[in-house]
Amino acid sequence: MRALKPEDITQSVIQSFADTPDPRLREIMVSLVRHLHAFAQEVKLTEAEWFAGIDFLTRCGHITDDKRQEFILLSDTLGLSMLTVALNQNKPAGCTEATVFGPFHVDGAPQVERGGDVAQGARGTPCLVRGRVLGLKGEPIAGALLDVWQSDEEGLYDVQRPDLGHAQARAVVQADEHGRFDFRSIVAVPYAIPHDGPVGQMLKATARHPWRPAHLHFMVQAPGYETLITHVFRADSAYLDSDAVFGVRPSLVCDWRQQDDGSYLLEFDFVLNPQAA
Ligand code: BEZ
Ligand code: FE
Repeated sequence: MRALKPEDITQSVIQSFADTPDPRLREIMVSLVRHLHAFAQEVKLTEAEWFAGIDFLTRCGHITDDKRQEFILLSDTLGLSMLTVALNQNKPAGCTEATVFGPFHVDGAPQVERGGDVAQGARGTPCLVRGRVLGLKGEPIAGALLDVWQSDEEGLYDVQRPDLGHAQARAVVQADEHGRFDFRSIVAVPYAIPHDGPVGQMLKATARHPWRPAHLHFMVQAPGYETLITHVFRADSAYLDSDAVFGVRPSLVCDWRQQDDGSYLLEFDFVLNPQAA
C-alpha cells in the first residue's frame, strides 16, 4: 500500500468538497481544512494534544446553555470576534467604531423614558449618561433606539444573578426629535469575564488574565442606518491595554467626569453609517 503523505490527506479532504453546491460554503470549508492541516503540521500535533483539544471543545459544549456561551467566550478571548467585527467594518471616517457584542445582551429590555433610571437597583456610583445620535453630516437621527447594558459595581450583569427576577442596568432608551438621549445609571467598573470553565483554564495556562476595562454597552438602531454595536470605555480604567477580548478602540475611550457631588457624567455622541441604497 502506498504510504500516505500528509499533503495527500489534505488534498483528498479539499477534493471531497468539490461538489458543494454553495460556492461560499465550499470556499469556507476548503480554506478551513487547509489552515487546520497547516496548523497541525506546523506544531507537529501529537495524538495526545489532538485529544486534549477535543476534550477542551467537549467541555466548552458541556458548560454551554441558554445563559452561558463558552464558544463565544472562546472566540472572544482568541480575538476572532473582534477580528470579524474589524473585517466587516467598512464605515466611512467619522462613524462611531463598532466592537464586540459580548454574551450579556438580552432582547426585549424594558424601555426607560428620557432622564429615567436604567440602574433599577443595580449597585454602583450614580452616573448620568447623555449624548446625541447623529448622521455623518451631523444631522440628528430622531427617535433612534439605544439598547444599553452594563455590569454593576461587583462586575456582574443582571443575567449573572439568577435570583434577581428583573432587569437591572439594562434598558432601551429613545432619542428625541433632536437625536438627544439621556438616562441615569451607574459608573462602569472593570470586571472579569466568566473564567470558571475551560476558557478560564486556557487563560490561566497561558498566563493571561480575564479582565475587561470598564465600559458601557450600546446597540444603536434607526431606520435607514446600519445598526451599531459598540461600547464606551472609561479613560481612567485599568486593563485598557490588555482587554481579555481585545475590544478596545481608542475612539471609544472617553472621560467619565466626576461631579462635585461624587456622581459621574458621561457624554458621548454616536455617528451612524447610512444603510447602502
Ligand atoms: C462583555 O463585555 O459583556 C463581554 C464581552 C466578551 C466576553 C465576555 C463579556
Ligand atoms: Fe461588558
